[in-house]
Amino acid sequence: MTGFASPEARAAFIAGLPKAELHLHIEGSLEPEMMFALARRNGVKLAFDSVEAIRAAYEFSNLQDFLDIYYQGMAVLLTDQDFHDLTAAYLDRAAADGVRHVEIFFDPQGHTARGVPFAHVVSGIARALAAGEARGISSRLIMCFLRHLSEADAQATLDEARPWLQLIHGVGLDSSEVGHPPEKFARVFARARDLGLKIVAHAGEEGPPAYVWQALDVLGVDRIDHGNRALEDAALVERIAGDELTLTVCPLSNLKLCVVDDLARHPLRRMLQAGLKATVNSDDPAYFGGYVNANFIAVANALDLTRNEIVTLARNSFTGSFLPPEAQAPHLAAIDAWAAA
Ligand code: ADE
Ligand code: ZN
Repeated sequence: MTGFASPEARAAFIAGLPKAELHLHIEGSLEPEMMFALARRNGVKLAFDSVEAIRAAYEFSNLQDFLDIYYQGMAVLLTDQDFHDLTAAYLDRAAADGVRHVEIFFDPQGHTARGVPFAHVVSGIARALAAGEARGISSRLIMCFLRHLSEADAQATLDEARPWLQLIHGVGLDSSEVGHPPEKFARVFARARDLGLKIVAHAGEEGPPAYVWQALDVLGVDRIDHGNRALEDAALVERIAGDELTLTVCPLSNLKLCVVDDLARHPLRRMLQAGLKATVNSDDPAYFGGYVNANFIAVANALDLTRNEIVTLARNSFTGSFLPPEAQAPHLAAIDAWAAA
């Protein structure tokens, strides 16, 4: 056990480590219990008749299997209050895991397509984030475009977001990756950048290294979400390392979606050894079996990560965030103090 007396000692070290979460879909934090409660509150009929039946359905063999259920689950989210309660519940979980800063994705097209006003979605989430700031968790909000839809649909969503841009820090790209390369969205991301928004994209989760190249060269990403398959291309690894781009890696997601067949073969250590700024995140914790600490603990145990590697991952979560350097500094100092204690 590298630097730890026991798995319990490693888990305690991880639990107390200050961290940021940079890859979290707020709709993916919808726990089955809340799904039921909101279905009741809103008079929505669910396809499942118990919390246990919902959990039992969470067996996925790829990303699309998961997305089919994820979009169904969103049906219970209708009002500003629903989005507030969802976000507040996530922030409670994050705080319990030692998370001090969050950068949260939301999928407006998953809601506006059902007739939910954009304003309800963004104002409910933002109200909970403001309350989180008052409790000491800073945050950024990132609006994702669903890549299985058209670029015109993404452009219309960006138009709809215009009055809310003081609450939205960046744009991202998610949903079904294969068959929907980043270049499909070149124009909408160029416009987002002109509006001063940060750019991120899911790339190399299931898609090939060519999609990661496009995220870099066509979209001009500030950060890559997942990036696992970048390791298949040495020149691409060199480029990402040279540009000092952060990867938001999601170990339990990768396991549940069969991106890796065993956490013991997860590429996280290889990423660090290749000089990539990897971070650990939960993606859709209600669906994948754990929040950020569970992800850290599972991958640290599977790969026998050292104390230094764990500290590097926590430091990367702040240096890879969209916080300005002066706001990162106290968190980095707190990590070093915890590691030294
Ligand atoms: N939407 C929510 N989670 C996702 C993931 N892991 N990949 C792509 N789109 C997503
Ligand atoms: Zn994701």
